[in-house]
Amino acid sequence: MIANQLVFMSEEGKPVLPAAVDGQILVLGIETSCDETAAAVVARRADGSACLISSVVRAQWEHHRDFGGVVPEIAARAHAECLDEIIRMALSEAGASLADVDGVAAAAGPGLIGGLIVGLVSAKAIAMARQKPLIAVNHLEAHALTVGLTDGLPPPYLMLLVSGGHTQLLLVRDVGVYTRIATTIDDALGEAFDKTAKLLGLPQPGGPAVEECATTGNPTRFALPRPMLGRSEPHFSFAGLKTAVRHRAHEVAPLTNTDVADLCAGFQAAVLASVRDRCARGIDLAEQALGAKLGHFVAAGGVAANRTLRAGLTELAKKKGLAFHAPPLALCGDNAAMIAWAGAERLARGLVDPLDAPVRPRWPLDSEAPKVRGAGVKA
Ligand code: KG4
Ligand code: ZN
Repeated sequence: MIANQLVFMSEEGKPVLPAAVDGQILVLGIETSCDETAAAVVARRADGSACLISSVVRAQWEHHRDFGGVVPEIAARAHAECLDEIIRMALSEAGASLADVDGVAAAAGPGLIGGLIVGLVSAKAIAMARQKPLIAVNHLEAHALTVGLTDGLPPPYLMLLVSGGHTQLLLVRDVGVYTRIATTIDDALGEAFDKTAKLLGLPQPGGPAVEECATTGNPTRFALPRPMLGRSEPHFSFAGLKTAVRHRAHEVAPLTNTDVADLCAGFQAAVLASVRDRCARGIDLAEQALGAKLGHFVAAGGVAANRTLRAGLTELAKKKGLAFHAPPLALCGDNAAMIAWAGAERLARGLVDPLDAPVRPRWPLDSEAPKVRGAGVKA
């Protein structure tokens, strides 16, 4: 493990660039794959340690509120309107100029095509105008490598990636080398949180709203299924659980605040039981695939911000003899610090992309992973 520094401050409390040392690289990262417009600057030292210098994230939720979900065209326009300003803010907070950066990284997929084009084309323009290397980053790889930035943790480790579009267990063997151990056969976990929130009349994004409501609820009042519990294959499923919440809600409607809190707490307890069981199975299979004991278990992606989930996974990891890591809450959801860091890791290995690099709305990290019956094709 390598000691990392998150935000490099001067005595006056202003961010300053880390003293230039041999082999240190500075990367500007851009994230526009869904509904967060973000830019960040990170430094990677020659010993592989990291320093997050600035990170600016602008959520677009108010643009999509009336539609109950992210509208791709609106998202792309909103990125186009503010990305220049967000990049300027990230550079200015870092005390850096475009001339200082050694590479420009942008999320090139998977995600919504319009937003990806806005981010990648902006990165290409900067790279071309400033003669800097371009790194077209896989957004999932960026989530996967975030613990390198925050905890100085190098591969190998097993990662639970839980976001709005993905629920996967990935064996992170090295930068760019991933084996998918498990995936969801229907909804992603974040999607299940969002849909459950919607049917209970809670605001979007649903994950934080369900988590908040659950804190006052009774998790045992409603009988809810624990999907896939005990199955030998390690995959996930959440669609049935979400439907069961709908049925219980209809049985007691009209819903009081207590009903909603109890349903949220019950949903979260069922999610945790299922995810823990699936991860326990996944850890065994990942160790078989690696041919060695794992030392670290990681959670990343928006849902990894859920405190109940983090506590449950910490306990599971301990039981399995593994150290548990999850990024700080602000770096669980989509951000550009993780894109900049993935870009820096690739740049340090000479893995750069041509200026005609395509956006890839679908871009699995493990393209060899066998198809799972019923599983979505988003990644
Ligand atoms: O990684 P992310 O920001 O974007 C994607 O790449 O999808 O994840 C967003 C998802 C949303 O579904 C949101 O409801 C969920 O993460 N989420 C949470 C929490 N915070 C965000 N789910 C459960 N508990 C939370 N605290
Ligand atoms: Zn994400």
